Amino acid sequence: MKKVLSIILITCLVFTMVACQSGEEKELTKVEKIQKKGKLVIGTSAAYPPYEFHKEIDGKDTIVGFDIDIAKEIANDLGVELEIKDMQFAGLLAALNAKKIDIVIAGMTPTEDRKKSVDFSKVYYTAKQGVVVSKEKADEIKTKKDLEDKKIGVQKGTTQEKIAKENFKEAKIVGLGKISDIMLQVMQKKIDAVIAEKPVAESYAKKNDSIVLSNIALNTGDSGSAVAIKKGNESLVKAVNETLDKLKENGKIAEFVTKATEMNN
Ligand code: ARG
Repeated sequence: MKKVLSIILITCLVFTMVACQSGEEKELTKVEKIQKKGKLVIGTSAAYPPYEFHKEIDGKDTIVGFDIDIAKEIANDLGVELEIKDMQFAGLLAALNAKKIDIVIAGMTPTEDRKKSVDFSKVYYTAKQGVVVSKEKADEIKTKKDLEDKKIGVQKGTTQEKIAKENFKEAKIVGLGKISDIMLQVMQKKIDAVIAEKPVAESYAKKNDSIVLSNIALNTGDSGSAVAIKKGNESLVKAVNETLDKLKENGKIAEFVTKATEMNN
């Protein structure tokens, strides 16, 4: 009996020791885990020029934009490669919390609602909201009031969706997963207007003759962009903020924005 007991005891002890050891390994910070993996996996939604968009470079489909340049700097400062996962905007935070990606960089606004489920870096860029209307209707839709009984397109899961619903109670709000599809709808006159961050609205209007950037101003305040990180990864929040601080100070962010805007022309 005694022998059996001591065997059980010893077995338990060994298990605890092993458990402790692997426990120690789990104590790696998120930054160390990324460095061990050798790559930073970002999630984005790349139809949002100049933030992130697809462009053919040397015959190859490439994701570019100022968010991507910032992500490259973050990866560089961590000493790892960059991997980009392009997905629907509405699915980004779920992918982050499921650990499919390490960070989200997608012109994402750090709202109070989102802060309940993820952490955010500092804001690295701010923009106003812009409204795109079909050229044919530009004379008809000139003020915020003109939009009230119209069909307004927004990207699903964005702050613009909320803005549209709150500001235009009588309008029909059309939400789609991809902003490029919504822009197509306004070009085809299936809807009357699209709300997006102003630089994005401007980019699409510049490239497509059938739509224009309207003068309508939505007084919703500036909408900032920040990097989203899964909760409990303070090391990564700190590292991202350090890179962002550096890029703000040396004027690189402004430079990336100009470069991305030109690339989209
Ligand atoms: N700033 C808005 C938000 O956070 C829209 C961002 C859309 N970004 C994108 N890559 N499609 O909801």
